[in-house]
Amino acid sequence: MDIFKVAVIPGDGIGPEVIEEGIKVMKKAAELDGRMQFEFTYFPWGCEYYLENGKMMADDGIEQLKSFDAIYLGAVGFPGVPDHISLWDLLLRIRKDFDQYVNIRPITLLNGAPCPLVEENKENIDMLFIRENSEGEYAGAGDWLFKGKPEEVVLQTGVFSRKGTERIIRYAFEEAVRLGKSVTSISKANALNYSMVFWDQVFEEVSKEYPQVKTYSYLVDAAAMHMIKDPKRFEVVVTSNLFGDILTDIGAALAGGMGLAAGANINPEKVYPSMFEPIHGSAPDIAKQGIANPLAAIWSASQMFDFFGYEDIGESLLTAIEKVMEEKTVMTPDLGGNATTSEVGDRIVKQLEEKHAPTILK
Ligand code: NAD
Ligand code: IPM
Ligand code: MN
Repeated sequence: MDIFKVAVIPGDGIGPEVIEEGIKVMKKAAELDGRMQFEFTYFPWGCEYYLENGKMMADDGIEQLKSFDAIYLGAVGFPGVPDHISLWDLLLRIRKDFDQYVNIRPITLLNGAPCPLVEENKENIDMLFIRENSEGEYAGAGDWLFKGKPEEVVLQTGVFSRKGTERIIRYAFEEAVRLGKSVTSISKANALNYSMVFWDQVFEEVSKEYPQVKTYSYLVDAAAMHMIKDPKRFEVVVTSNLFGDILTDIGAALAGGMGLAAGANINPEKVYPSMFEPIHGSAPDIAKQGIANPLAAIWSASQMFDFFGYEDIGESLLTAIEKVMEEKTVMTPDLGGNATTSEVGDRIVKQLEEKHAPTILK
């Protein structure tokens, strides 16, 4: 029996609420399958921890996480702690220290999920965003000069290394080969005359290694427009850290909302643990009401099964999510229903059990 050690960081706001349902579903899926098992270890890190201890995680937090096979995280950030502190000292720190340089964000409109687009554009919303997750605009490089003086200047430097740019673009091409799809690069070389000129150059170089893959290239502003007007043109998409952050929220809106958008932060070499998390935040506006949608967290759990090589279980979680969306009877308020977070988790569990029941009982 395979045993996977998972570090659980429920985090802030709705984080713990959605993670509880994700864990419930993961345990049930593993139990029904019988080939694998999880060992969960909880870490109470986040904004409450900060207010008590003056830090977002234990001093040796990164060291503690190193021995796990994966990390399952809810959300980080809450009013009361400045966002740049909470995020840089926990979420972004983990992504960086564990060199989780690939952020995989599927934007797939499942049957039954709401989509704000006109009918003919809803077809074929099935994009796989590969967001650069280790550098670019998130390098943390900058300066704050002449603070408070009239000549005050603030610099935030985008860092695009050859290694960092090549490896993410190559990862996108490998995914495209595996899936038999095209690759679209999204950049902005007309205005960003260093970083994005370089990005486009590397994209062109790497694309030569994959003559069998069809490629497209868009400026980010036009890409944002095309995602709304004609989303089917996007298959595998590779883009920089900040553009990927923004475009995947647009993608989330296309595919049912923040409550349905999942993500995986991958260290492909498996030198360090990878981290699975919904792409939404702590949603202070609905926290502690028991109405957050747990499906994004459950979808991220499905990505974890894939990562561990149990793609069939990952697929069964997605099928269960789709079934629940199609039924429309147990949905949280963001999807127009009145179910609670845990009712949705329970419905997914029931769906998995029904699927596993011997045929005679069906
Ligand atoms: P958010 O994603 O938390 O919320 C945006 C909107 O989407 C809100 O109206 C919220 O109610 C709704 N929403 C989000 N997730 C939902 C869910 N599962 N079910 C139903 N509705 C949901 O973004 P924000 O308000 O900009 O950020 C809040 C805090 O979270 C900030 O501190 C921010 O920095 C942080 N944040 C953290 C992460 C992360 O940890 N990965 C991601 C994004 C934002
Ligand atoms: C995300 C979030 C983070 C990001 C924030 C909270 C730092 O928005 O995961 O999409 O920008 O990467
Ligand atoms: Mn984001």
